Amino acid sequence: MDTLFWRLKDENLLPRKYFEVDFPMIVARKIHNIKSKPPLSKPIMESHSGDSLLIDSHSLDSSRYSIVGADLRFSSDLEEKLKKHSLDVHLPTLLVAECVLVYMTPQQSASLLKWAASTFPVAMVINYEQVNMRDRFGQIMIENLQRRQCNLAGVELCTSLESQKERLLENGWENARAIDMMKVYSFLPQADVKRIEALEFLDEKELFEQLMQHYCICWASKDSSNLGLANIDF
Ligand SMILES: C[S@@+](CC[C@H](N)C(=O)[O-])C[C@H]1O[C@@H](n2cnc3c(N)ncnc32)[C@H](O)[C@@H]1O
Repeated sequence: MDTLFWRLKDENLLPRKYFEVDFPMIVARKIHNIKSKPPLSKPIMESHSGDSLLIDSHSLDSSRYSIVGADLRFSSDLEEKLKKHSLDVHLPTLLVAECVLVYMTPQQSASLLKWAASTFPVAMVINYEQVNMRDRFGQIMIENLQRRQCNLAGVELCTSLESQKERLLENGWENARAIDMMKVYSFLPQADVKRIEALEFLDEKELFEQLMQHYCICWASKDSSNLGLANIDF
């Protein structure tokens, strides 16, 4: 379950509307969890206003939270479903992908990114996923995932920070930047670093650092209203 909506709500940082998209089967499981767990359903009810809340086994649409079952490889179906849930493409929009493009072929992720760039005039995209996958450690990660029937069809674009940025620039996005998670870690407040490093799983510091060097955050924007999105940095 992605808890971002609930964390934003707790911190009073909800956007005008938060959309989550996943395969219909996964969405059905998430909706079941939301329905059966008051700490998940209550914040959705509390933030809802207006017409009655729509909920069935494959979608849920409230005024501030919407979850849609769709395959991201088919953007016209995706767009139709999002618009049914009152997506306003003219509002400044933040698109977040967490280890999802890597499951698509390079052509499929390119077409999704192109669709997003041409649909949202003012937007930022943030992609969190693997990087440096051509080295020995990356190859072991791929083999481990393959053993669990997880095929990374788009892994060739996870070769370097450059290849991650290029994909965004080639598909309609501007001002692309990328940093690996080791760099992100070095920017964390020292109190957080101390707390994290006291955790047991960090006994193997070298392994942790290698893992962090194999994930990155890459972001880019489109800013027809000159909001200054290009200046957003880490
Ligand atoms: C690493 S998980 C991210 C999980 C998400 N942040 C969460 O906590 O639920 C990647 C997700 O992408 C979804 N996914 C992969 N390919 C997809 C596609 N073509 N269309 C829709 N969802 C997809 C998977 O089902 C999985 O839930």
